[in-house]
Amino acid sequence: MSEPSLLASRLTPEGDGVVIVDQTKLPGEVTYLTLTGLEEMVEAIRALRVRGAPAIGVFAGYCMYVLARPLAARFPEREAFLNALEETGHVLAQARPTAVNLPWAVERMLRRARQGERPEEILPTLRGECQAIFQEDVEMCLAISRHGLSLLKPGDGVLTHCNAGPLATSRYGTGQGPFHLAAELGFPLHVYADETRPLLQGARLTAFELQRAGVDVTLVCDNMASTLMAQGKIQAVFVGCDRVAANGDVANKIGTSGVAILANYYHIPFYVLGPSSTIDMDCPDGAHIPIEERDGEEIRSLFYRGPMAPEGVKCYNPAFDVTPHELITAIITEHGPRFLGKKA
Ligand code: MRU
Repeated sequence: MSEPSLLASRLTPEGDGVVIVDQTKLPGEVTYLTLTGLEEMVEAIRALRVRGAPAIGVFAGYCMYVLARPLAARFPEREAFLNALEETGHVLAQARPTAVNLPWAVERMLRRARQGERPEEILPTLRGECQAIFQEDVEMCLAISRHGLSLLKPGDGVLTHCNAGPLATSRYGTGQGPFHLAAELGFPLHVYADETRPLLQGARLTAFELQRAGVDVTLVCDNMASTLMAQGKIQAVFVGCDRVAANGDVANKIGTSGVAILANYYHIPFYVLGPSSTIDMDCPDGAHIPIEERDGEEIRSLFYRGPMAPEGVKCYNPAFDVTPHELITAIITEHGPRFLGKKA
């Protein structure tokens, strides 16, 4: 039975805080947090309480509005207000490095603020702007989901990696949006969700969301993709993206490039789905995408009852990797698929 998807973030009705679902507690607990200050907002992004490229863009838009309100009261003069808001935006935009949607949304809010005259007049336009970012994301996810689904046949098996569903975006999702749309339309698919080591976004979030939506989802370990492909169970791979460079190289959750290499070997189409806000034309290629490196404790012990590695062992924990454009069949935005070099 399908249940409504959880919204990653929203404004409080008074506009004085941002309510998030704490994604670190899923799937066991659905816990809501109301955030009102810059420090806790940055912490929420770093700790992955709110995560997924488009979702942190939407969240950042709401945060900028919420944080602008006390600044407008403190700095009634335009220049002082704009300077303080820019400083705030700078801190927020630095919370995580890889997803381009975060600095994109902050800059969009700052641009809107600079168009206004007096701080008290700027505030309502900022509220409208963050709501527009959310609304546009909902519409883009729907368009992306339709384009993605048009590439599948009823009964297909599709492999996905990480979480690129409603919790990572707004409503349907990107990499997993077509599956949610398919469930609504009664279009049968078999979805295989990689557990996605080390933070298990696939197991904790994708499997949770797809099961709630009534999708036929099977959870697999990351190292099982090759076996599924060899068995002929996978007709396509769908993933989201954190940043697309100008040459088509794509940064997404660590492990994505390995799946692309396997898909290439087995002649399976590999699709990247994301809103056009994820394309960074200022970034020439994947080598220029900053890759976040996270705490080794996530590998040593985080999801185990006790540590699973020797104490103090050196860990390397990059959060994302880059898939070269040659391995990508098409990048699907709200405007439709753009086919790249890869032959099926
Ligand atoms: O570290 P995360 O959980 O923020 O990583 C998320 C991903 O890599 C997603 O696949 C990507 O952001 C696309 S979300 C629509």
